[in-house]
Amino acid sequence: MRLQPVAGKTGAVAQSGAHILVADDQADVSEALRLLLKGEGFKIETVNSPAKALAAIKERAFDLVLMDLNYARDTTSGQEGLDLLTRIQAVDSSLPVVVMTAWANVELAVAAMRHGARDFIQKPWENARLLSVIRTQIELAQALKKGHRLEAENELLRGATGPKMIAESPTMLPVLQLINRVGPSDANVLITGENGTGKGLVARSLHAVSARADKPLLVVNMGGLSEGVFESELFGHVKGAFTDARSDRVGRFELADGGTLFLDEIANIPLHQQAKLLRVLETGEFEPVGSSRTLRANVRFLSATNADLRAEVDAGRFRQDLLFRLNTVEIHVPPLRERPEDILPLANFFLQQHARRYRKNLAGFQPAAAQLLREHPWPGNVRELDHAVERAALMAQNPQVEPADLGLRGEGDSAPRLEDMSLEDVERFLIRKMLARFDGNAKKAADALGLSRSAFYRRLEKYRL
Ligand SMILES: Nc1ncnc2c1ncn2[C@@H]1O[C@H](COP(=O)(O)OP(=O)(O)OP(=O)(O)O)[C@@H](O)[C@H]1O
Ligand SMILES: [Mg+2]
Repeated sequence: MRLQPVAGKTGAVAQSGAHILVADDQADVSEALRLLLKGEGFKIETVNSPAKALAAIKERAFDLVLMDLNYARDTTSGQEGLDLLTRIQAVDSSLPVVVMTAWANVELAVAAMRHGARDFIQKPWENARLLSVIRTQIELAQALKKGHRLEAENELLRGATGPKMIAESPTMLPVLQLINRVGPSDANVLITGENGTGKGLVARSLHAVSARADKPLLVVNMGGLSEGVFESELFGHVKGAFTDARSDRVGRFELADGGTLFLDEIANIPLHQQAKLLRVLETGEFEPVGSSRTLRANVRFLSATNADLRAEVDAGRFRQDLLFRLNTVEIHVPPLRERPEDILPLANFFLQQHARRYRKNLAGFQPAAAQLLREHPWPGNVRELDHAVERAALMAQNPQVEPADLGLRGEGDSAPRLEDMSLEDVERFLIRKMLARFDGNAKKAADALGLSRSAFYRRLEKYRL
């Protein structure tokens, strides 16, 4: 889907005379911008403080704001600029704001985009890029006013049934099959996998294909519940049950009645709370804190963990009977490094999402950037990929994302070319790389290199790794 209107005559005509507010406390910068933009036919007003910028926006209509992030009171953190951004959003969220940041302050630029800026320019700026960003943002804002984007977004929403899951690699096939087979039933499902592999997404997909889909899916992060709130959060409490219980509270079980309860980070609950949970799983019955009335809820349980629950059972930290209740069916989501076919489809999917969100015209990845994505080990899995692509969407200056935009270690790497290395150097290089990829796990590194364990250890010794 293209949200960027094609620049054409209409856009150019509509833009002449567009009204731009420039906010910067350096007089020479303001003056240079005023001259440049006036020469292009824009109407310009300049202000030198956040307060004046806000006052101007409240009084007069602008088509775009071009603002610096740093002002006199605090010249480096950009906090004043970020505050101003938030205030502008509150006055008129459809007004496009382009921020200017010092060269190399990428973090601040990213923060600004998250605070609602539509794009950013690094100082010192290139005139051509500055003008192109300004024109694009004014056009997009005009298109938005006409409702174009709204229509496109509605269409997107209408088309959506359940969350979209990208799964092209053969290792994801069992996951898809299980979702389709087990999803519609009321079976309890335990979802396992490393951080960021998509366990939450699997839970939402299971709920979406179930008969409970039009009832709520409630998520409880079991790792985040402190001792004191666990019971009242899950089972509710009655007024006066404890000092802070000033009124009755409905717990998650009751709220999820007829629907699905997703117990995330299940390995993190202490043993005595596990006993309480087990009872509800077995009987569907529970009592709110401070009440002797037994309630029943018809709930389907999904749970997720990145821990090895069997090992936790062996270590005496997790009840075996609870594990049996939770994992009527287990779905294991493989790490991203075991599903290389998914990397580029996921990257393109995220790129479209972030491009839309940040209103940028991004078409795809340059071949070198795509290669970098394929080769990265992705210890943080799909979430790490999502974040790398978000960063790239913010950084990209051209429709094709470049390797450097991704901010992954190793781009434009100083690693020597293979043909310039000795055979021994190549061996050492590969062994290091595989050890890093598998977090120092020698067996996995040896397997990946097709070496026996002993051959692998001999080489570790030889290269003193
Ligand atoms: N196969 C996929 N297709 C599309 N998006 C995905 C896929 N897998 C994960 N995502 C997205 O990646 C992000 C991380 O996934 P999710 O939160 O489900 O991971 P998780 O395994 O629950 O992580 P954690 O262990 O840290 O809780 C989410 O935004 C999710 O929507
Ligand atoms: Mg999760």
